[in-house]
Amino acid sequence: MGGLIKDKNLALVILAAGEGTRMKSKLPKVLHPLAGMPMIKYVLDIALALGAKKILVVVGHQADKVKQGLSDYPVEFVLQAKQLGTGDAVKRVKPYLTDFEGSVLVLNGDTPLITLKTLAGLVSRHEHCPLTMLTTILDNPYGYGRIIRDSYGNVRGIVEEKDASSEQKLVQEICSGIYCFESKILFESLEEITPNNVQKEYYLTDVIGICRGKGLPIHTHSATDPLEVLGINDRVQLAEASRLIRQHILTEWMLNGVTIVDPLTTCIDRQVNIGCDTVIYPHTVIEGECTIGEDCHIGPFARIRPGTEIKAGTRIGNFVEVKKSSIGPNSKVSHLTYLGDATVGKGVNIGAGTITCNYDGEKKHQTVIEDGVFVGSGSQLIAPLTVGEHAYVGAGSTITRDVSPHSLALSRPHQTEKPNWVKRKKKK
Ligand code: UD1
Ligand code: CA
Repeated sequence: MGGLIKDKNLALVILAAGEGTRMKSKLPKVLHPLAGMPMIKYVLDIALALGAKKILVVVGHQADKVKQGLSDYPVEFVLQAKQLGTGDAVKRVKPYLTDFEGSVLVLNGDTPLITLKTLAGLVSRHEHCPLTMLTTILDNPYGYGRIIRDSYGNVRGIVEEKDASSEQKLVQEICSGIYCFESKILFESLEEITPNNVQKEYYLTDVIGICRGKGLPIHTHSATDPLEVLGINDRVQLAEASRLIRQHILTEWMLNGVTIVDPLTTCIDRQVNIGCDTVIYPHTVIEGECTIGEDCHIGPFARIRPGTEIKAGTRIGNFVEVKKSSIGPNSKVSHLTYLGDATVGKGVNIGAGTITCNYDGEKKHQTVIEDGVFVGSGSQLIAPLTVGEHAYVGAGSTITRDVSPHSLALSRPHQTEKPNWVKRKKKK
């Protein structure tokens, strides 16, 4: 495994077995998406970039769902059958690290904003130390474990919110749930923890007090930005983390030459790719694996769904939805349109209110619209269907059969007219 920390003997443990009660959800907490990707995958991507020798994910509550959600990651799963607390979760890892001597970096699956820079800083700070914790100062530390220091400033231990005295609750330095331990010290100390607290749980945080009791030095490292250690316990924190991640994604695109007219109303998922000089207008949503070429105009009020590719110079206008479709260069889909499972060529004009009728109630069908086609407004294209190159579809048509290249297809009832027609009065 390549990565930032090449020589270090480092094992990574990611805690993801908890029930996530505060989310009040049927979906395991760590699988809740942020900008289109489950939160735990953000943590795993950084773990991979760090280059750990081993990545162990502790699963328990809905273990199968979590394992399935992470099946594309090169990790080992450790089962914590009963959720007895974070300390118990880490204890379950011991049989997987029997021959391992080195540092164990523990991360929480619900802390997705953590950066590679901060973790690399923690790992290098940890060199030759028994225990190093990532901490930060928060204006509102509510809900987090507080770092308790003695009058010399040395760490004495961690007290959880629920166990803290009113004086301890005033402490603003918090435990991020991210630590580096020497493996031998970690597993020895875990044998000593007890569920002697308000929650009747085995706290990983108690290891710190135990180490201190043994006279071991405890080091701390600060997160570059306090927001990095935001733990997601409920949906309010989920929305906050989501906003921060989306903001970060938009900033990256703007710095890469994409104009985002109104970042406050634009949602772009993490897997999206966008070319230079493309302009994204307000209230646009781009979801999942999508590629937008250079010099495109997207929106306002456009929804681009997963599996879509839009080539350079194409315009997607207001109230247009595009799903799993490819649209060639310099085409126009300007208003009120649904394109689903469609392949659209170059220089195509799709009129207002065009609908690809791709679903027959059972299966999805493809629509092919070749180069240079003009589809008149208010048309329905009943898939499967091919409209040949440079063909015209007359406005208001319902097209059910293939259209030959260079032809005009018209399919609509003839207009009838009754001159001097007066509506008959109803009989009383
Ligand atoms: C934990 C810390 C707290 C810290 C905060 C940072 C403890 C006791 N408390 O609190 O000091 O400020 O994180 O965000 O560690 N988990 C398991 N098995 C369990 C219980 C939890 O795997 O039996 C996992 C959860 O899935 C989660 C992580 O451990 O990913 C943290 O658990 P959570 O219940 O969210 O702990 P906090 O109350 O946030
Ligand atoms: Ca948490």
